[in-house]
Amino acid sequence: MKDLVKRLTEAYGPSGSEDKVREIIRAEVEKFADEIRVDSLGNLICRVAPKAPVAGSAPKRIMVAAHMDEIGVIVSYIDDKGFLRFSTIGGLSPYLLLGQKVVFENGTIGVFGTEKLEDMKSLAFDKMFIDIGASTREEAEKKVKVGDSAVILREFSDLGDRVTSKCMDNRISCAVAIEAMKSVRLEHHEAYFVFSVQEELGLRGARVSAYGINPDVGIAVDVTTWGDTPECAPFNVVLGKGVAIKAKDSSVIVHPKVKNLMIEVAEKKGIPYQMEVLERGGTDAGAMHLTREGVPSGTISIPCRYVHTPCEMVDMRDVDAAVKLLVGVVEELASSSGGGML
Ligand code: CO
Ligand code: ZN
Repeated sequence: MKDLVKRLTEAYGPSGSEDKVREIIRAEVEKFADEIRVDSLGNLICRVAPKAPVAGSAPKRIMVAAHMDEIGVIVSYIDDKGFLRFSTIGGLSPYLLLGQKVVFENGTIGVFGTEKLEDMKSLAFDKMFIDIGASTREEAEKKVKVGDSAVILREFSDLGDRVTSKCMDNRISCAVAIEAMKSVRLEHHEAYFVFSVQEELGLRGARVSAYGINPDVGIAVDVTTWGDTPECAPFNVVLGKGVAIKAKDSSVIVHPKVKNLMIEVAEKKGIPYQMEVLERGGTDAGAMHLTREGVPSGTISIPCRYVHTPCEMVDMRDVDAAVKLLVGVVEELASSSGGGML
């Protein structure tokens, strides 16, 4: 699985330009899906059919969403000397960009520089630029145009049980959903595994794909933050103690039936888990639960240190627990017969 995580996390895929990630995922899941389509915004939608559909009634639909996009920057202006000004894609801090390299979709590499500053506190995005090694605007424009996006250039590193990369948020969850698709066995109801676009800009891909699928229940898979490094804020989720089951974040208060089902499955199967209440941040469940007339939704979270930095870190034991919980919950939902799925 680490090899898959390496390939997914080293791929280029800022919000709105997820094609390369989608192609890797499509190749992985093709033989495990009964139907695959890409919608008009670029969401990859994979339907897995039930083995024993209930005669005389349409199967209910379970939607699983893992976003493919990552945070990045987009060129807003190129000056006469060939320096690029930029805008951000998703939640970034200017401090984290100092000393970093970026890579554009065509392979062009740049480094961040900054204007002369009074002190480090005055560092801001509008004082920064990207240097791609050009001396004039004409030279720069041969490689990069206004409107082109870039992501941090940073390789995947294997530290043992723990692994780090620029975009565990959220390729680690794409890997979880891929692994789940490979082993899940659906009895009566069907599942739609959605690899969504543009989550980092406001859950946009999940919103339209949920409208199209019209699911009966929604499960997002995403990273959450951590509470176990020196002097960090108290937080119930730590690395290595299992998958996190979300109760609330700023996008959703998880439907009690979904939350309780996740807890029951984890208890029954002996999957280590931790309860999560996140003050700030949201996931695709935020969009799914507000679809049409409302969809009971929840989130399976992977504990992740240093979220939205070039060095996001997860523990593969938590990742394995997330795969087991996702498979268990989807199978439990798909096996219900009679009135309602929950
Ligand atoms: Co994020
Ligand atoms: Zn995310």
